[in-house]
This record gives sequence, C-alpha cells and structure tokens, in this order.
Amino acid sequence: MGADVVKIEPLWGEMTRMFPPLVKGLSPYFAFLGRCKRGVTLDLKKSRGKELFEELVRKSDVVLENFSPGTMDRLGLGWERLRELNPGIVYASISGFGHSGPWRDFRSYDPIAQAASGFMWLMRDVVDSEGDFFVAPEAIADTVPGFTALIGILAALFNRHNTGAGDRVDVAQLDSMIAIQQSVSFWNLAGTTFTQAIKGAGPSVYGLYEASDGWVMLSLTAGRITDNFMALSGIEELSVERIAEWVKPRKTAEVIELLSSNGVPVAPVDDLDMVQENPQAVARKMFVEVDDPRVGRHLQPGFPLRFGGEDMDVSTPAPGLGEHNLEVYSELLGLSEEEVAVLHREGVV
Ligand SMILES: CC(C)(COP(=O)(O)OP(=O)(O)OC[C@H]1O[C@@H](n2cnc3c(N)ncnc32)[C@H](O)[C@@H]1OP(=O)(O)O)[C@@H](O)C(=O)NCCC(=O)NCCS
Repeated sequence: MGADVVKIEPLWGEMTRMFPPLVKGLSPYFAFLGRCKRGVTLDLKKSRGKELFEELVRKSDVVLENFSPGTMDRLGLGWERLRELNPGIVYASISGFGHSGPWRDFRSYDPIAQAASGFMWLMRDVVDSEGDFFVAPEAIADTVPGFTALIGILAALFNRHNTGAGDRVDVAQLDSMIAIQQSVSFWNLAGTTFTQAIKGAGPSVYGLYEASDGWVMLSLTAGRITDNFMALSGIEELSVERIAEWVKPRKTAEVIELLSSNGVPVAPVDDLDMVQENPQAVARKMFVEVDDPRVGRHLQPGFPLRFGGEDMDVSTPAPGLGEHNLEVYSELLGLSEEEVAVLHREGVV
C-alpha cells in the first residue's frame, strides 16, 4: 500500500528463516512473510546498533515489534524513548498476552494463543465435541493479531494526521483471538457455540454435499435464495437428505453453474492446486508469480485489497539476510559503503 517496510533482524536472522522444510536454504514461511520488505541486520544490543536504530526511528512513521513485553525497554528502546526521538512515531507491539495484566510476561506462539483463547476448544467442537483437540491451520493466531495491529497502526496514523501526535498500539494474540469469536455471544446468550447453532439449523445456513466427482458447499438461507433453489431442484420440502439426493448424480461443475447463475451461494470444496486454478482467483490476480533468486519462479498469495481498481504488486521476493544493509543505511542514514563495511566487520550490522 505504498509503505517502505524495513525488516530489522539480528545478525543470525529471524526465526522463520529457519522454519522447515528449507528449499535450497529458503523457508517457505519466510518466503511468504518476507515479501515486499527490505531486509537489514542490526545488533540492537551494541551501542552503535542502538544509535542506528534511533536514527531510523527519527525517519520513520511506524515501529512494529513482537518481542516479549519489556524487551524493548531493556534495550533502552521502549515507548518513552521512541516518542522522545520522534513525537509522531506510531509504536505497535504484538505480544502473546499484551503489555499489561498478570500474564504480561508469558511467551507465546500461535498454538499457545489458540489454546488460551478458546479457539482450540471451538475447533474440536467442529469435528467432535468429545474428541481430540485441533490446532487450526495457517497460524491463525499470528495472522489475526497481525491484521489487528494493522488496523491499530492505520487508525493511529489517521489520528496523527489530525493531531500530529504518535501513539502506542498494544496488540495481544489472546485479545485478538477473543475479539473474533461470535461463539462468545452464542455461549453466553444461548449456551451453545456458533458451530452447534449452525448444525442445529438444518440445511438453511450451510451444508456440505457430495457430487459425482467432488464436494460442494451450499448455503440456503430463507427467502429468495431458498425459493430459487426449490424451483430449480424441484424439491418441495427441503431436507438434508433430499438435497443430498439431488446433488449426488450431478457433477460439481454442473451444480455450481446452475445454482450460482440463479443466485444460490455455492462453491466447490477445492484443494490448493484447484484454488490456484480457480478462474475468479486468477482473474483477481490472487496468486502472483514471485521470481526468487534462490528457488526461482513460484506462486504466492496476492494482495486482497484493490484501490481504484488497481492490483497491488506483491511479487518482490523476501530479502536475503542483510540484503539491503548498504541500500537502507546509505539511503536513509547517509552512510557510505565503507562505513557500512566497517559496521559489518564490527558485527553491528
Ligand atoms: C516469540 C517469543 C516467544 C520468543 O521468546 P524469546 O526467545 O524469549 O524472545 P524475547 O522476545 O523475549 O527476546 C528476544 C531477545 O533477543 C534479543 N534481540 C532481538 N532482536 C535483536 C537484535 N536485532 N539485536 C540484538 N538482540 C536482539 C532481544 O533483545 C531479547 O534479548 P534479552 O531477553 O536478552 O533482552 C516472544 O518474543 C514472544 O512471546 N513474542 C510475542 C508473540 C509472538 O510474536 N510470537 C511469535 C509468533 S510466530
């Protein structure tokens, strides 16, 4: 969205660089997360490293970190120091449990936040409420706090636009994962979960049906959607069994074409190969080709926002460790090639 994002790593590289499996030395996780960022190394424990960081803060709009709470203060780079350096700075922290409260110092990763927030319990409820617990896929308890932080940062920038003052944004994985749970309301008002409420609602909310060559998901909410479906299918009284019978002999493509062109929400249940060929996702450029010098051309998810109909370019590969040291330190801090080389020799960058 136009931001120049500089990712600062310790000299040994950040954790997701090592996340297995490594493909020619590149972690798919880092390849995904690191796109469109410039990468620099910086030892924040060395006094020269701190100075360089402080210089960067003076020239930046936003600082985002996800250390355990108190780490930035120990480094002498906490909120009070950063606002002293740049009163307009927006300082956002993502942590497991937030920067206040009795669990403040507890470390966290995605599954920790999934477990503590009730999310794992809700995942189990989807499959078998007496069965095993599940961790939801896609590091959801990292991603949701990431989006939450983005909202906070953009709001703080908007506020700064009006007042000139920066702000502190404190995002907890626990809070973010609680805030997205409609089940809290279902539980407290009706003693049930969102999943159970849907399961109890018959075919009206959604249903998964097997066609002759795959599965389809239908959503038959009351009103004209259901009316359309009944007219098309000839089913006079809707039941899960009758819908299943109607879907069974048909091919998924036929069900999708017929229902979607008549205003009934329907989708194939696609695997990752299929979704990458979904003509809609392709038309919206939701898979972009990244040409990474380490592993070559491959697809990564595209960017889900469009402004003025424009596609955003998110095809810049994740940086190598310290790849942009010279570029960033010379461009932003005015250091010469020789100065950066000396900093490198001294283990500062
Ligand atoms: C991820 C996490 C569990 C790791 O815990 P940890 O290994 O104990 O790491 P901490 O964040 O507490 O501390 C990082 C240390 O590395 C140091 N460090 C980090 N970057 C550095 C740099 N560029 N230069 C020098 N030191 C650096 C910090 O100063 C700190 O050292 P200290 O404890 O001696 O002060 C913890 O940071 C955390 O809970 N983060 C919030 C939630 C989160 O983002 N989880 C990961 C989601 S994938």
